[in-house]
Amino acid sequence: MLRFLWDSISLQMLFVFLFVFLLVSDYMKKRKPKDFPPGPFSFPFVGNLQFMFTSDPVATTQKLTEKLGDIFSMQVGSQYFVIINGLPLIKEALVTQGENFMDRPEIPLDKDIFSKLGELSIEIPDMHCQYFHLSNMPEGKREAMTWLGIHGLISSSGHLWKQQRRFTLTTLRNFGLGKRSLEERIQEECRFLTDAFRDEQGKPFNPYLKINNAVSNIICSVTFGNRFEYHDEDFQNLLRLMDETVALHATIMSQLYNGFPSIIKYFPGSHQTIFKNWRLMKSFVFEKISKHKEDLNPSESRDFIDSYLQEMAKPNGSDFHEENLVACTLDLLFAGTETTSTTIRWALLFMAVYPEIQARVQAEIDAVIGQSRQPALEDRNSMPYTNAVIHEVQRKGNIIPFNVPRQAVKDTILAGFRVPKGTITLANLSSVMFDKKEWETPHSFNPGHFLKDGQFWKREAFMPFSIGKRACLGELLARAELFLFFTALLQKFTFQAPPDTILDFKFTVGITMAPRPYKICAVPR
Ligand code: HEM
Ligand SMILES: *[C@@H]1O[C@H](CO)[C@@H](O)[C@H](O)[C@H]1NC(C)=O
Ligand SMILES: *[C@@H]1O[C@H](CO)[C@@H](O)[C@H](O)[C@H]1NC(C)=O
Repeated sequence: MLRFLWDSISLQMLFVFLFVFLLVSDYMKKRKPKDFPPGPFSFPFVGNLQFMFTSDPVATTQKLTEKLGDIFSMQVGSQYFVIINGLPLIKEALVTQGENFMDRPEIPLDKDIFSKLGELSIEIPDMHCQYFHLSNMPEGKREAMTWLGIHGLISSSGHLWKQQRRFTLTTLRNFGLGKRSLEERIQEECRFLTDAFRDEQGKPFNPYLKINNAVSNIICSVTFGNRFEYHDEDFQNLLRLMDETVALHATIMSQLYNGFPSIIKYFPGSHQTIFKNWRLMKSFVFEKISKHKEDLNPSESRDFIDSYLQEMAKPNGSDFHEENLVACTLDLLFAGTETTSTTIRWALLFMAVYPEIQARVQAEIDAVIGQSRQPALEDRNSMPYTNAVIHEVQRKGNIIPFNVPRQAVKDTILAGFRVPKGTITLANLSSVMFDKKEWETPHSFNPGHFLKDGQFWKREAFMPFSIGKRACLGELLARAELFLFFTALLQKFTFQAPPDTILDFKFTVGITMAPRPYKICAVPR
């Protein structure tokens, strides 16, 4: 009966219903604060909805920046955003006043994924997961933990964030980029990846899965202590889930959920799939954790999970609990895979489209490394051109154009405007990385942007990892991966468009701006 009723509600009715609810609930909420940065015309109740439906948001916002200046506001539903543009203002917000913009907004989707303990007690039979220790915990302790807010590294705030971040950075450092072990893991993965590319025999193929898998293996080796074969089905499933989940965050239903969680949670839609996916991903990690517990050696650490379990065993490690470990692990996997893999896919695309640049990189590889030895991080210092090309790929690729959202920790004055506590703040990184004042030819792919007198030239306006104390936690690792994967691939292959195909730079917008799926030929050298 219910099922029948549900089916008979038309989509239109659903939207009318939603709309009325949104209007009423929004009306109850706060109004625009005083001295707030200027914004475009916004509809009563719903805000700047016009941007959700415009076919060209880039052009639409372009006009805004021109009209309103380097700092302006937008409204979506009852939520106000402040958007900041340009090097001086972004430096002011993320570095000079960095402490004031150190938090992340509590986006309802993240909140429900990363702080609800109840969710964990759901059994997922097909993943053989019985390890939900938290649901057996005494009531008092569970409450205390729920109260701490969003877990993990990416979406957490305050003391919890600071502590988890410090611990993760130290642990990553202990596994050593400088001490070679992590470098060796990347080099090993480079061998697997070049082998997998060679199997394609120079024929057109989509490199997406292989690159994603290779990159993800680095994080897996850091967190779980092992890599996965490129045809491992469980692992492919996990990667697919991550991808699907990223894509789903951009759907209208998910956005509506973020605006009005208490209403939308009763509706079917992509947000429900997101919850289901996260449960599956969590259970994958839970299973890894319990395996680690079985053969944990308290005096030795094989990987991130071991180190974390040891930290949990310390008397004062109250924030170090299993729920947080799962969140940190997934955050590392999530933040470390898609970003780096997307950048490498941009790199191959640029090389195929600009063969003369590719040839210069290969000439430098041949001169410094040759064909018989594997590239090492040490080589980077003697390879300014290759290094400049990788930087230019990151600048032009611009995969996270608006940075990851921050939230004002307290009332703050920025460029003379008042940004009240809790306001979501977006730093428009593209406004710096495509600034006419900073770059000779901002819209061309020009490695010369990073070269001066034949030497590598470090540029302040290069900030794909963002800046300040909350910038990318994996920057060192990511830069090591980009250099080693890129040089290993170009050492062995020349990348070309498939016959009768013209490659272009069209992109898709998800959590990162990624190239549209493409096929490419990796011709052995
Ligand atoms: C080319 C590759 C990468 C790019 C472009 C990139 C970019 C970024 C950016 C823009 C942020 C937001 C910083 C901010 O809020 O100011 C971020 C955060 C983060 N990244 Fe990366 N990232 C990359 C690779 C990695 C890797 C390999 C890891 C794995 C260790 C990683 C882990 C993280 C984490 C954990 C955060 C959250 C940090 C926090 O909130 O404190 N990233 N990244
Ligand atoms: C971000 O910066 C780019 C490049 O300057 C600009 O085209 C775009 O309009 C800006 N977007 C917003 C929302 O400020
Ligand atoms: C651990 O907690 C106790 C009691 O709260 C405190 O006295 C001690 O200084 C703490 N130790 C560390 C290392 O934080």
